[in-house]
Order: sequence, then C-alpha cells, then structure tokens
Amino acid sequence: MKQHQFGGSWTRQKLEVLRKYLNAYMTIFTKNKRASFFHTVYVDAFAGTGYRTLADPSEAPLLAEITEEDNQNFLKGSARIALELEKPFAEYLFIEKQNDRVAELEHLRKEFPNRRIQIKQGDANNILQEWIQNTNWDRTRAVVFLDPYGMQVEWSLIEAIAKTRAIDLWLLFPLGIGVNRLLTKNAPPPKQWEQKLTRFFGTDEWRNRFYQCQTTMFGDKVEQKNANFASIQNFFIERLQTIFAAVAPKPLVLTNSHNNPLYLLCFAAGNPKGAKTALRIANHILSHPS
Ligand SMILES: C[S@@+](CC[C@H](N)C(=O)[O-])C[C@H]1O[C@@H](n2cnc3c(N)ncnc32)[C@H](O)[C@@H]1O
Repeated sequence: MKQHQFGGSWTRQKLEVLRKYLNAYMTIFTKNKRASFFHTVYVDAFAGTGYRTLADPSEAPLLAEITEEDNQNFLKGSARIALELEKPFAEYLFIEKQNDRVAELEHLRKEFPNRRIQIKQGDANNILQEWIQNTNWDRTRAVVFLDPYGMQVEWSLIEAIAKTRAIDLWLLFPLGIGVNRLLTKNAPPPKQWEQKLTRFFGTDEWRNRFYQCQTTMFGDKVEQKNANFASIQNFFIERLQTIFAAVAPKPLVLTNSHNNPLYLLCFAAGNPKGAKTALRIANHILSHPS
C-alpha cells in the first residue's frame, strides 16, 4: 500500500477538529429522535487516500512553506477518521481526482464492509454540484469537508452547498498558501490571477477591499495592496455569512513550524434550525483544537 505523508501538527489539528465535530454530529443524529429521521451523509470531496496525503508539487508550489519539520510519520487521513467513528454516518461519499488515490480509497471500502461508501473520481466542484442536485434535502443531512491544497474550490460550489440548507461545511481556506500570494503588492494581480480570485470569492469586490489608490511623488496614480491576513480572513467570513445560516467567526489558523499562517479551517452551518447548536459545538472545538 502506498503511504503518503503530508503536513505536521497543523494537519493533526485540522483532522482532530474534524473528528470531534463528526463525533458530536453523529451523537446528536443518533440520540435525538427528530434528528434520527434524517439520512446522514459524510462527504469528503478532496478525499486523498485515507492516509495523510503528500502534496503534488505541481498542484501547490507554495507548499514549499511546509518545512521538513512539519512532516510526520504516516497517519490517518480524514476519510479513515470518518469511517472509524463509533456512530457512523449512514452513507459516505469520497471524491478524489487522482487515479492512484482512488485506488487507495477502494481498499478502504474492503476494510469497512459495514459502511455504505461511494467513491467518485473527478473534479470535486462538478461531482458535488451533481450530487447536491440529485439529493432529497427534505430527508438528508450532511457534513461536507472541503480540504484542497490550494484554491480549487469555486464559490459557486459553496453557494450550492449553502442553498441546500441541510449541510454543515468544514472548509480549508488557503490563506497564506493561496490568496495572500495572489494579492500582489505594488499593483493589482495579473488578469489570470484576478479571475481566479473572483471565481474563488464569487465577487470582484475583493479588489476594493484589498487595493487602495495611492498617488506617487510624481503625481501618478497607482493601486497598492492594502490587505493582511486578518483583513483577508474577515472578508471571507463575511462572504460566508451572506449565504449560510451561521458561520464560526473565528476560524482556526493553521500555521507551519515557523508560525506562518498556511490555511484557515472554517465552519459554516446550513440548516437554520440546527445552526445554533452546530455553531456552539464548532466554536467550542475550534477554541480547543487539540
Ligand atoms: C490535502 S489532500 C486531502 C487530504 C485528506 N482530506 C486527508 O485528510 O487525508 C487534497 C486531495 O485533493 C485531491 N484533489 C486536488 N484537486 C482536486 C479536485 N479538483 N477534485 C477532487 N480532488 C482533488 C488531491 O489529489 C489530494 O488527494
């Protein structure tokens, strides 16, 4: 079996937060009579192999930020953690783009014959959109984990997730590793990066928020970056708040061993009735991550 290694203590923190939430979620959905009416699904849309997954450098050159020191011995990944829950979900959907990783996920299916597992190969954005359209949201409740290396998640997917009013979302936001790097310092980003940012945030409003017009000593007008980690975080949380019933105001900042922020682990609850409880649990876990 191929074993990939990816990330260090920040990965552990991320997965521990997820595990705690899934555990609390399924405790509610098995104990509470009204909640037990629902068909529960866990969706891992960037599933990897079931073990911590090594980055493909072409996918995220910025992962050079992650030092050797961050690398740990082979450990469980999110798919396996979800399958091992004491109170399992009624169904699991794993999505993964890469062939060999899908093959690894197939081993998990054999290892957990009592779990109902669907594995789909392809782009998470397309497959999830289709799954959302074909699911009966009157009867289904789900937790979706979006754990990309970089900026692969499109805003249109996040919107579709929120629209179900039935999904709780955990999302890895590429703060230092993606967005902050695309926001170039002395001029707005080139066209291609600009489009990427707009697709990612679902609006071009980021430009007004993150760039300011300045006049040089020669009287020329230039646009300069006026953003830092905190303002990028605030903007994204505000964006989530426009579409979800509740959003954790303080995502978990995941840093490398040099204390540089790499990602934010964000939480948003889609179901208006369950949002208060979901948010209380998520906030508690986020403030006690390990
Ligand atoms: C950070 S890893 C996931 C790690 C996993 N959640 C875990 O804890 O073990 C990201 C995974 O997403 C996959 N991936 C990248 N782009 C994708 C896309 N557009 N759709 C689906 N999977 C993708 C990569 O092949 C990689 O396995």
